[in-house]
Amino acid sequence: MSADLQDLRQRLTESLARAGEFQKDWQRSAFERVARHAFAPDTVWVWDEASSAWGSVARAEEPGRWAELVYAAGSLVTQVDDGRTPPGKPGREPTSSISSPGAVLNMLAALDPQLGDRVLEVGTGSGYNAALLCERVGDRFVTTVEIDPALLRTATSRLREAGYRPHVVLGDGEEGWPSSAPFDRLISTASVRHVPAAWLEQVRPGGVIVTPWFPNAHGRGLIWLRMGEDGTARGRVVGGETFMPVRGQRPAPLDVAEVWAATHERAERVVIVPDLGDVDPHGEFALSVRLPGVGCYRQGQGQGQDPHGGWFFVSEDGASWAQLTGGAGAYRHGPRDLLAEVADAVAWWRDHGRPRLHDFGVTVTKEGQEVWPRAR
Ligand SMILES: C[S@@+](CC[C@H](N)C(=O)[O-])C[C@H]1O[C@@H](n2cnc3c(N)ncnc32)[C@H](O)[C@@H]1O
Repeated sequence: MSADLQDLRQRLTESLARAGEFQKDWQRSAFERVARHAFAPDTVWVWDEASSAWGSVARAEEPGRWAELVYAAGSLVTQVDDGRTPPGKPGREPTSSISSPGAVLNMLAALDPQLGDRVLEVGTGSGYNAALLCERVGDRFVTTVEIDPALLRTATSRLREAGYRPHVVLGDGEEGWPSSAPFDRLISTASVRHVPAAWLEQVRPGGVIVTPWFPNAHGRGLIWLRMGEDGTARGRVVGGETFMPVRGQRPAPLDVAEVWAATHERAERVVIVPDLGDVDPHGEFALSVRLPGVGCYRQGQGQGQDPHGGWFFVSEDGASWAQLTGGAGAYRHGPRDLLAEVADAVAWWRDHGRPRLHDFGVTVTKEGQEVWPRAR
């Protein structure tokens, strides 16, 4: 390993330790044994503000920059556009990444796998997280499923080169992996809007499911569930992570600026405007719970004369939207009165004592799921 990589790796470990990110005893040693750079592909992707696109960084051409990206505190994008965009061309959508070290550790702490637990990971990606799982529970207890054949091939060889032999399989993780079930733990590293019924069937009673959850195109949340004997999973929100969605649940792309440009001249101006002054990120989460499928975008926070920044809510079909511009009032457009819906959702959040993200409970059955504020 080059001195640079060694140095960056050590610095990242120390800063995570200082920040208290190693929540479980085993996490630091596993993190130290599994080298992130052994799983990072030779081409990674970074957001380029100037071109408003993802640009590639090749290890061979920029080894120093590549190494810094691999050992940065954020997530590392390892694939864009399902692999259709080649290096050197602008990428539109990240489709695989090694999650930020903080998110990886937080999810593993929530999962809390024990030695010998049978674990299913959905979203092998680079294989990095699967290696951490192998360190904790033992290779033969880990099954990891990836939907993208090219990613799967690379991950399989990287895992072997690093000395790990989990069961790496190609498939749609929304269906779990029945032939290795039942599992004691299931961790998804791609987010879901609806927890798949197959997961409830394949995790044993008493077992744990940890998955990022997105109520709308912009929403976020990490949920922890324990399977009950009755086939119902119950748990709570344990974090605010944002992850890319599983392929089968990707929201249809919506160009919000285009929706506004095409319709704002026909929008209705509203004089009595809901007050969102106290809506912090916890309130935003509550709004997404109450308004599933309605994207919430905040603009210009703290800028100019608008102390609360502007808000834009849009239904995922793009047909209805509401805009609150602070001093300038509000506008709405389309068949749904999203301003009224937002006002109701904010009132609900206040009536419940402004619950924080961690105050929400989650119940999932095969028929559906509910996210609700728990009593504090
Ligand atoms: C955030 S990345 C995973 C990171 C990975 N655990 C790692 O350590 O590199 C999410 C991954 O989920 C995969 N994915 C998306 N939908 C899936 C599905 N239905 N089944 C299995 N994998 C899926 C994506 O191809 C992507 O590689």
